[in-house]
Amino acid sequence: ISPAPRDSYRRELTDLRISVVDRCNFRCPYCLPEDQYPEHHPFLHKSERLSFEEIVRLTRILAGLGVRKLRLTGGEPLLRRELPKLVSWLSQVPGIDDIALTTNGVLLPRLAQPLRDAGLGRITLSIDSLDPVIYRQLSGNRGEISEAMAALAAAEAAGFGGVKINCVVMRQINDEGVLALVERFRGTPHIVRFIEFMDVGTLNGWQRDRVVASAELVDRIHARWPLRAVNRQRHHDVAERYVFEDGGGEIGFISSVTAPFCGDCTRARLSADGKLYTCLFAADGFDLRALLRSDADDAAIAAAISAVWQARDDRYSEERAARRAAGDAEKVEMFAIGG
Ligand code: GTP
Ligand code: 5AD
Ligand code: SF4
Ligand code: SF4
Repeated sequence: ISPAPRDSYRRELTDLRISVVDRCNFRCPYCLPEDQYPEHHPFLHKSERLSFEEIVRLTRILAGLGVRKLRLTGGEPLLRRELPKLVSWLSQVPGIDDIALTTNGVLLPRLAQPLRDAGLGRITLSIDSLDPVIYRQLSGNRGEISEAMAALAAAEAAGFGGVKINCVVMRQINDEGVLALVERFRGTPHIVRFIEFMDVGTLNGWQRDRVVASAELVDRIHARWPLRAVNRQRHHDVAERYVFEDGGGEIGFISSVTAPFCGDCTRARLSADGKLYTCLFAADGFDLRALLRSDADDAAIAAAISAVWQARDDRYSEERAARRAAGDAEKVEMFAIGG
């Protein structure tokens, strides 16, 4: 039995984010900008992607090393065929007590109920603006705000209670819409989280002055609806939490640029082609697919993963300025590991 590995900063491995497909039906400018990725981009072929059997096997092994929480991502994870089947298999893995999904929601109306029935616990929906024109612009002209709202309704109808709503904030693009988003979801069980625009990948043309610091948004929102900070539920959660003083519910802020949270980062990411990434900003991952497709047994794979984790010293968000100044620019793309 392998003990739970700790990395070089003594961080455990408790969360696994599984990218099930690298394709997406959106072209969000902060992730997969249309002009950077024309239609002929070589997305993964089916045979290059891990099968459900391979994903479940790895999840079992990782649960043995301490993983308790799973999040399915993409690209757009709902583009992976038969996703409910994967969820039902994953929900039976001993040790896994939380399975969540991050989606843009377009395909949710027909999948929400089957996913719920399969054992999916939680849904996070991306909605960057309530303004139809800005929403569409931030989807790369692929999505409509009405579809996102239909997705939310489908999630509610299927029995997903509080949905988390992710909004990536970019200055002079959608930051004027922040108060409208807060107003729309105040008093509902849903939790809006504002995410600082990050320099993930190499394609989004990140500029520091496009980032709106969470502190600035907190001030703006607090001036309208007084807020009170509350503790993170678990110390390794990414979002800073606030509740409305008047009982209007909760909102969150994910401040990887102005208030990095690497110190508590217990997350590993598995790409659709089976690479294990120990940081969202890593240049490359460890090829688990090769091991899975060799004659390595579970113990050998567990030992390999433990070794990778024990060697881990990632803390990109805390080193961002220095790394960028040093011209250290090689990073995996966001759509390949799902954020
Ligand atoms: P729960 O805690 O399970 O509710 O979800 P979450 O907040 O971890 O998941 P979600 O996918 O909604 O993440 C929200 C945003 O935070 C996404 O834009 C992620 O890219 C970003 N994020 C998540 N984990 C990390 C991380 O380890 N580092 C950085 N820099 N950003 C992260
Ligand atoms: N900065 C911040 N968040 C991002 N996401 C994608 N790209 C970025 C970026 N550059 C978020 C999306 C979604 C999740 C998958 O990652 O909004 O919520
Ligand atoms: Fe697709 Fe999500 Fe990336 Fe937008 S952020 S392009 S929805 S993977
Ligand atoms: Fe973890 Fe890397 Fe994000 Fe820091 S930047 S919190 S180490 S994934």
